[in-house]
Amino acid sequence: MFLGARHLLLLSVVVIQLQMSVLANNTKLAQAAVAMPDSYSSDTARVILELGGNAVDAAIAAQFVLAVTLPEAGNIGGGGFMLIQKDGKGDFIDYRETAPSAAHRDMYLDKQGNVITNKSVYGIHASGVPGSVAGMWLAHQKHGTLNWDVLVEPAVKLAEHGFIVHPKLASSIERYIARMAKKEVSINFADYFSSAKANKNFKQPELAATLKRIRDKGQAGFYEGETAKIIANFMSEHGGIITQADLKAYQAKSRVPMKSAWNGYEVLTSPPPSSGGIAILQWLKMYELTKPAKGLEHNSVGYIHLLAEIGKRVFADRAEYLGDPDFFDVPKAALIASDYLEKRSSTITLDKISTTENIQPGLYESEQTTHFSIVDKWGNAVSNTTTINLGYGSGVVVAGAGFLLNDEMDDFSAKPGVMNVFGALGGKANEIQPHKRMLSSMTPTILLKDNKVKMVTGSPGGTTIISSVYESILNAVEFNMSAEQVVNSPRFHHQLWPKNVIRHHPGLDTEVVKALENMSYTLNERRFGDMHVIIERDGKLDAGSEASGRGKAVVF
Ligand code: GLY
Repeated sequence: MFLGARHLLLLSVVVIQLQMSVLANNTKLAQAAVAMPDSYSSDTARVILELGGNAVDAAIAAQFVLAVTLPEAGNIGGGGFMLIQKDGKGDFIDYRETAPSAAHRDMYLDKQGNVITNKSVYGIHASGVPGSVAGMWLAHQKHGTLNWDVLVEPAVKLAEHGFIVHPKLASSIERYIARMAKKEVSINFADYFSSAKANKNFKQPELAATLKRIRDKGQAGFYEGETAKIIANFMSEHGGIITQADLKAYQAKSRVPMKSAWNGYEVLTSPPPSSGGIAILQWLKMYELTKPAKGLEHNSVGYIHLLAEIGKRVFADRAEYLGDPDFFDVPKAALIASDYLEKRSSTITLDKISTTENIQPGLYESEQTTHFSIVDKWGNAVSNTTTINLGYGSGVVVAGAGFLLNDEMDDFSAKPGVMNVFGALGGKANEIQPHKRMLSSMTPTILLKDNKVKMVTGSPGGTTIISSVYESILNAVEFNMSAEQVVNSPRFHHQLWPKNVIRHHPGLDTEVVKALENMSYTLNERRFGDMHVIIERDGKLDAGSEASGRGKAVVF
């Protein structure tokens, strides 16, 4: 972290230091680890842990800091999922956005029934009711140990006094502004962010004032009172539909995580409205059922082809059966049942591509986002993925409140058979209904053995999240990689449609690429994801953050 910012952060935690000094002085720290998407969140999470806070305290403080220092995905105007393993028990805080009460199934269609370009992606109509503040509040009520105001304070300070803008953030903002200028969209992003320049201090006074209300009033500081009034007035002035009543009605939910045995581990992962938990369990289990007895070499032709074949089947099921469980009865158990997956994978061959059109749902009949992983000295873990959907969300900043709104409404299915921005299809299970949560690919996941945390993993990247997560697990378990190798080894993704396209990171062997092309795959080299992973082996923690981003992982 830059000296100025570290100074600010230290100032901001002086209150905690006073409160916790006795504890900090008397406690001999065991190992803890954080793997975070930037240095500010990393340093904040570390300070909170060193001062005696638990993994959930550190996660809450980091989430608010990211709303200031990682505007492309960190947020208070979006949502996410926090998977927690604490005191030997799992919990899943679902703070996914919801459709406003005036939302309806056809709200993104024109009179001819065609999807209106960009309406669910940019501008005032793209946003769901934000869930992040309610999610952090619920996590704190259930699991926090330090005072709420202490956890929000570092973010307040970074917004009020500013933070030093990383050159990668500055150039991303510049590119985004240039790209948006070419589109016919009404957004005010540049008014707020064009002054963020590389290596210069950047202050956000409106955001600081909003964060102060959250610090002082908790959940009510966002969903009621002045902040709610500012949001609702801004919406009605610009033709948006989120109201004060929508904000007041928003509830984060604690759900039972998915848990399933795999390869000697228990995989603790995300239940619906995430599609990712079911998807990674299907992927990992079908891999075990279909891989040759002698195994497959990492990132070889056979390995990539087999996982692409499995991906075709996973994404056909995703489109048909996955949605908000409060609105749609998701057949969770059936989708990961052994006999179903055996039947589902029985048509896979190791050298030939299945015909895309023949892969139907099997039961009956930036992309942005950000992720972090934390393990505290007690062995508790948090795997948290949070999002405003695309980089910088809808591109709309709530004037007077200073935060970016999400464009999560695009994660609903605007019309059956029409792909969203990630190329994902959906049907009835994921159609728009008031107060419903849109389907997500976010997949915060924890691997357990004998109920002890062995791996904490997750990634941003829309539908590619699912591939990043299952491949990270295979990298760690099947190929015994270190955390740094896990996050930096080239990954690939196939999701049924577009037909036979495998997207992959740079760095795949050129012979492998050629061989896959000879099999009739189309290879598309484009990075995805930004992984932050912690692994425990032989009593030691190992943490890694993907080198292409601006993340920072430390074990201490
Ligand atoms: N907005 C990306 C996701 O939730 O899948």
